[in-house]
Amino acid sequence: MFRLVGAHSHSHSHDNIDWDAHLERLRAADDFIAPDITEVVAKLLRPGDHSAIEIGAGAGGTAAILAKGLARNGGESQLTIVDTAEQLLTAAGERASEAAEGVTVRTVRADAAADALADEITGAGAPPQADLVYAAFVVHHLPDQLAGLRRLAGLVKPGGRLAVVEFGLQTRVLPADIGIGGPGLEARLVSASEQWFQQMRTEMDGSVRLPIGWPKAMTEAGLADATSFSYLIDRPAPLDESGRVAALRQLSMLRRDADERLAAEDVEALNQLLDPEGEHYAGNRDDLYYLSANTVHVGTKPA
Ligand SMILES: C[S@@+](CC[C@H](N)C(=O)[O-])C[C@H]1O[C@@H](n2cnc3c(N)ncnc32)[C@H](O)[C@@H]1O
Repeated sequence: MFRLVGAHSHSHSHDNIDWDAHLERLRAADDFIAPDITEVVAKLLRPGDHSAIEIGAGAGGTAAILAKGLARNGGESQLTIVDTAEQLLTAAGERASEAAEGVTVRTVRADAAADALADEITGAGAPPQADLVYAAFVVHHLPDQLAGLRRLAGLVKPGGRLAVVEFGLQTRVLPADIGIGGPGLEARLVSASEQWFQQMRTEMDGSVRLPIGWPKAMTEAGLADATSFSYLIDRPAPLDESGRVAALRQLSMLRRDADERLAAEDVEALNQLLDPEGEHYAGNRDDLYYLSANTVHVGTKPA
């Protein structure tokens, strides 16, 4: 069963990003990391878990894996997907409901930064609290991340868990010296991307700094036994076609805002790497790899 409810036009993200425009990129990324996320979800979902809420589900790859896990647990189970982006929400709802028979999938268009979040979820007919609340790469898009964690903790059943996935180590795809421009290009691209990220955060209305680590923040948000584990997305060279496409997608993302933040020589090198007609096109290299580490922070709601 799949229901789209709670489509409120006032729901919007706070980061000036048109998330719906990222549907295809997020879908492709979901497919690429599905084996890794399957392992993460297997660690998080316990045999007795029958309900989950995913906040900021993107194209729905993880939601589908959560739905399959809930279905395996048997009994009546419920998955609620919350997002501000209408098209992503629809895509995620469809993907999750196709993935698992017998799981009631609800989509709720709501803002995780709004205090009305819990009411929007119950207003959509979804259970107010879940055994597992999962939020990957979305809390850092909320102006006040600690307030966001408190709000998400409020959606966890007593004894249940909140899992927040955030960056561990930044993705790397290039050899240190690619033979054009100066060696060490990717380190400079990653640094520019970090500057973009900090600007995205400071430009949000009501932006508040979070000057502590995630497990400590979860503890402050009222959760117990906060702990973290990391997973690697480790695809060595030579990459297969999906890996090659993922590496090119990563380089394209780093191109964003490069003009303002990088030396002209580095922008030129990146342009050459991204030019399918050029002799330095990264897609023709057999030494690209894909290596990324993300961290899952897990806290338990006291019973
Ligand atoms: C970086 S994407 C992450 C998608 C997915 N979780 C993943 O790991 O690939 C951020 C997601 O959060 C959603 N989002 C951004 N701000 C939000 C907010 N204030 N409330 C709810 N969802 C939000 C976006 O629409 C998008 O689906």
